[in-house]
Formats: sequence, C-alpha cells, structure tokens
Amino acid sequence: MANNNQSVHGIWRNRWIFILAATGSAVGLGNIWKFPYITGEHGGGAFVLMYLACIALVGVPIMVAEVAMGRRGRQSPINTMSSLISEAKAGPAWKAIGWMGALAGFLILSFYSVIAGWALSYVLKMATGTFVGADQDLAGGQFGDMLADPSGLMLWHTVFMVLTAGVIMRGVNKGIESAIQILMPLLFVLLIVLIGYAAKNGDFSKAVHFMFDADFSKLTAESVLVALGHAFFTLSLGMGAIMAYGAYMPRQASIGTTVFAIAGLDTLVALLAGLAIFPIVFANGLEPSAGPGLLFVSLPIAFGNMAGGQFFGALFFILVSFAAWSSAISLIEPATAWAIERFKTTRTKATIAIASIIWVLGIGTVLSFNDWSEFHLLPGKTIFDSLDFITANIMLPLGGLLIALFVGFGMKYHHVYNEMQVKNAVFFNIWYVLLRFVTPIAIGIVFISGLLPECSLMDESLLNAETGECSNPTYMQPRVIGGVILAIAYIAIVVKSLKKPARGLSS
Ligand code: TRP
Repeated sequence: MANNNQSVHGIWRNRWIFILAATGSAVGLGNIWKFPYITGEHGGGAFVLMYLACIALVGVPIMVAEVAMGRRGRQSPINTMSSLISEAKAGPAWKAIGWMGALAGFLILSFYSVIAGWALSYVLKMATGTFVGADQDLAGGQFGDMLADPSGLMLWHTVFMVLTAGVIMRGVNKGIESAIQILMPLLFVLLIVLIGYAAKNGDFSKAVHFMFDADFSKLTAESVLVALGHAFFTLSLGMGAIMAYGAYMPRQASIGTTVFAIAGLDTLVALLAGLAIFPIVFANGLEPSAGPGLLFVSLPIAFGNMAGGQFFGALFFILVSFAAWSSAISLIEPATAWAIERFKTTRTKATIAIASIIWVLGIGTVLSFNDWSEFHLLPGKTIFDSLDFITANIMLPLGGLLIALFVGFGMKYHHVYNEMQVKNAVFFNIWYVLLRFVTPIAIGIVFISGLLPECSLMDESLLNAETGECSNPTYMQPRVIGGVILAIAYIAIVVKSLKKPARGLSS
C-alpha cells in the first residue's frame, strides 16, 4: 500500500496527462452553466469575490491534500482511506470521507447527467437551425418546451449515461487523453470568440460591472455558503474524484504547481463563460437571476444572430457536452474503482451496475422539471434543487473539512512531508498552515452562518416574518451553540494530534 508506485487501475503516462485529466474533471457544467447562473442569482460582484476567495483559501489547499492522499494510497478513495488510516493509526471514523464521497458522486452525477443531456439536445437544435434569428421569446419558449417533455429529457439523460459508462469501462486513463488534448483548447478558443461577439453586440460594460463591482449589501449568509459549495463543485473536490485521479499520478511529479495550473485554468474558464453570457443577458433584457436556464436561453440568441451561428452554436454545445462528459467520468470513477477492488469483478460489470443505479436516480431530476415540479424534498426546493443543495453546499464542503483535518492532524507529519516531495519548504509550510487552521475554520464559519438560523428557535416572535431577520438574537441562538460545539470538536482534534509521539524521522 503506502509505498506502492503503481495502481492496479493503471497510471498516467506523465504529469501533463494528469493535468489534462484533472482539468477535464474540473472544467465542466459547473463553469459554463452553473457559475453564470448562480452569480446572477446572488447579485454578481460580491459573490464572485467570495467564490475566488474560497478557491484560493479553501479549494487549492484541499486539492493539494486530495492529490497527496490519492497518490499515497494508490487505490479507490474508499480503500485509500483505509490504508492511510492504518498507516496513521487513526480512528475508523475517517472512513466517512470515502463513503460519503462515493455517495455524493452518485447523487451529483444523477442530476449532472440530466443537465448534460440538455446540452446534447441543444447540439441538434443548433445544427438544425432552430435558433436562426432567435429572440428571447423563441429561446425561452424552446427551453420551456424541452423541460416540459419528460421523455425527451430521459432520452438525452440516457444517451449521456451510456457515453460516460463507455469510457469508464475502458479505464479512465485510456479513454480520454487524446480527446481532451484537442477539445479543451477548442472550447477555450470558442469562448474567446463568443466574448468577442458579446463585446460587439452585447452590453459588455454592464456585464463587467455586474461581475466585478462588489456590493456586499447583496451578500447573504446563504450566498457565501453557495460560493463555498461552488468552489468545491467546480474544482471537483470533497468527494474523492481528485483523490482517485491522484492515485494514478507518477510519484516524482510536484503536486503544488500541478494544482495551481488546474485551479487557474478552471477559474479562468468560469470567468470567460460569465463574460460571454452576461453581455447578451443584459442587451436582451433577460434576468440575470433567471436560474438554471440562463445559459440555454442567452447563448442561442447570440448564435441565432451571428454569421455562421448555426455551425458555431452546434460546435459550442458539442464542446460543452464533452466538458460535461470528462467531468462525469470523475464522478463515477471512485465508486467503480471501489466496486472492482471490493467484488473482484471486471470493470465492465462494475460500470454497468453503478451507471444503472445513477441512471435510475436521474429520473427524479427529470421529473422535477415537469410532472413533479410541485414536489419538494427540502423546503421550497424541487428534487433537482435539493440534490444540488445537499451535495454541493453540504456534502462536498463537509468532505473537504474532513480531508483537511485528516491530512492536517490525522496523518503523520513526515508522511505528509515525504509525499509532497518538498522542494520549497516555504510553500509547504504556507500550505500546511492553511490546511490545518484556515481551511477548517473558514468552512466551519460558513456552515454555521449558512445553515443555522440566527434566531432562537424557542421564541418565534423574535423573527421578523418578512425579512427573516432576528429582532433580538439571544445567547440561545443556534449559531452560538453550533459554533461552540464545532470549536470544541476542533480543539479536541488539535490537542489529540499534539499528544502523538513527536515527529518521526523517516517514512
Ligand atoms: N467540476 C465539474 C464541473 O464543474 C463537476 C464535477 C466533476 C464534480 N467531478 C466532480 C463536482 C466531483 C464535485 C465533485 O462541472
């Protein structure tokens, strides 16, 4: 286990392939579809700033930790956790990281596949000229019609799951290398072309002000939670996807610079997507807060009115579908790798079983846009909204919190130090301090303010029914209690790690 240089599932040929694959995982619907619409829903600039802060202070340190864990364990996340736990002589509770991650992957892919299906169906709509000369009525109508038709949504959801399973059956490191090397740069170029169009024909300056003028009065505690959740979602963190890919990473490669490259590219693509979409949104009187349809209503208007738009539009949605596909692969790989190890079965059988379960779960999301749109899992949230909220805003940050605590306090210092192949002790130390003290405390604070009510539940009369604000927060308020509990747990973990024998000499 710990000193293996190989994984049974194969190894990336070199560091560059790892960067490509991890970027393929990170860049997906999260950047092109989700980032613009949640930025619109949460008021723009201040939200973008929080998102960037979460990427830098929470996302990057955790990504480094996940890659290091994966490379040390060299197995599926679930079994990697078991071997790291026994190496560190830590408690079995840490196994939750692996299990919760596999579950999160199932749930995310179940709705991710349905949205990717939208992109696939838009390839056809674009190519056949549905949007030629489109205005917002036509674009909005098309989108609405698509959502109202469960059988169409099911068809595309099925196509997407079959495509994903097809790659996974062959093993991640065989299926996608060459495709990623061509299609990722092409997506990048097409985004730049779209921005060029948007700058000429859209309201570019309004878009730039919207995205980058930070008005903190628009920021709520929930917005900060969504920004944190999205930092995890967009970097594929907190569920073991990056850990699974790290397991196939060559031993000598430096983790720090690799992670900077991936996080940088991912953030760039999200910002570019925003700069392509918002000018068109503002120039056509669309609502930035329109929700999940934002991309699918705004860009068809642009493509419908540009020279060669039929071709470029189809190409764009092919590339978006591809980006979603290379992300979906990383959502299903942790569970598949585990099933192969656990049941000693073939990749093909494991893939079919797992993809089928996810396909069935996806039916819930399909129906949440039409027949079951009135059914709420969480208060006020459809099945799709609830799955998105529970996974991105709770399970992923929680997984990340546990990963930070495990690498920061559970694992032995010299094991971490060795795995990192430290060349520059300053960078290592900055990372280690961030991971142990900044990342967990930041996640804790965002959780408490975003998930717990401000007002004492004992006295509802304190709550202003209209604004939802607390007229007189008391010492009983849930956030104080939650904060105290988390602080005690955190201090206990820190103290326990101090009691372990002093830092060892070698691994
Ligand atoms: N990061 C991908 C996107 O932005 C989605 C994704 C792939 C993901 N793998 C993940 C999200 C693992 C969370 C965890 O579209």
